Amino acid sequence: MLTSIKAVGTHVPQGVLTNADLERMVETSATWIRERTGILERRIAAPNEGATDLAVMAAEDALSRAGLRPQDTDLIVLSTSTPDSTFPSCAARVQERLSARGPAFDIQAACSGFLYGLSVADQFVGSGEARQALVIGTETLTKIVNFKDRGTCVVFGDGAGAVVVGPSSDGAGIRSCVLGSDGQGGDLIYVAPGAPTPEGPGRPEIHMDGRKVFRFATEILAQATLEALEKAGVALEDVSLIVPHQANARIIEAAAKRLGVAPEVMVNNIAQYGNTSTASIPLALREAIDAGRVAAGDFIVLVGFGAGLTWGACVLQWEGGGAAPN
Ligand code: COA
Repeated sequence: MLTSIKAVGTHVPQGVLTNADLERMVETSATWIRERTGILERRIAAPNEGATDLAVMAAEDALSRAGLRPQDTDLIVLSTSTPDSTFPSCAARVQERLSARGPAFDIQAACSGFLYGLSVADQFVGSGEARQALVIGTETLTKIVNFKDRGTCVVFGDGAGAVVVGPSSDGAGIRSCVLGSDGQGGDLIYVAPGAPTPEGPGRPEIHMDGRKVFRFATEILAQATLEALEKAGVALEDVSLIVPHQANARIIEAAAKRLGVAPEVMVNNIAQYGNTSTASIPLALREAIDAGRVAAGDFIVLVGFGAGLTWGACVLQWEGGGAAPN
């Protein structure tokens, strides 16, 4: 049985951090950030706003767009690098707030997490174990960014995206997922405790070798896309939209060139949100849907990469009508 996406929901915090704001915080310029990353602004969660809060809002948005009741959700797979606690999981907290049932758990595959989650949910739905699953990506990355490190603080932002998935009603749906991991690249991007302060231990901080991650990203986006298409038996020419992880506009452009697809095939909404890690693909997909870029029957590729190193790609045919599962 094929699994299809019934609806996509999103939520971003109200707080906005512009490039001009960052100019006042580190030695950088708005022009450098725009030209080197494509980012104009990013959202920033309030101190009392956690990954669970963003996730609940995104999930409610997805469920309401699908016309489905939260309490009928029978699986929650949530991806985050910034859980509110090690346990309980964010997924369990979301389940409680939605009055949902069934298994609920977090997965950690950094920026590839949404695709890992979608692949897991696909297998639950495909085997008949779940009929109304939520896959959520939620991040409060600005809480683990060092705002003195210009190599990372200009890039990341906060947000959440969610999809409701269930059995396909018309034969469209997820055709393939490929996932990969190479632990040898673990040092290229990681989180480590910050230096202790007089107030106590340093908070965790993202460290990144931007140049090396950039090179890996452009290669893996193209490679994973082609692998997933081959597994699905779908030709690249038949793909109308590729929704890549939003890490850097130049990475997206380079991947399009490598694949030989027109720039307009790639979705790129990094300007407004920066890199929201595991939330970036549903945020970009939602914008593409709102812009009328997705029609029933279209072949779409979702593709991403992240710390680990990890990567993933899913090929899906968009379902018509978005009929709700029973
Ligand atoms: N403002 C101004 N100058 C900056 C800067 C900033 N925010 N960050 C770096 N620079 C400087 C560097 O110090 C360097 O100066 P130098 O030439 O005098 O040494 C110069 O700009 C080029 O640095 P480099 O690191 O090569 O920049 P870049 O063009 O690669 O851009 C990133 C940096 C981080 C934007 C880019 O490498 C990137 O996006 N990498 C991928 C990151 C990613 O995808 N991460 C998420 C994984 S999920």
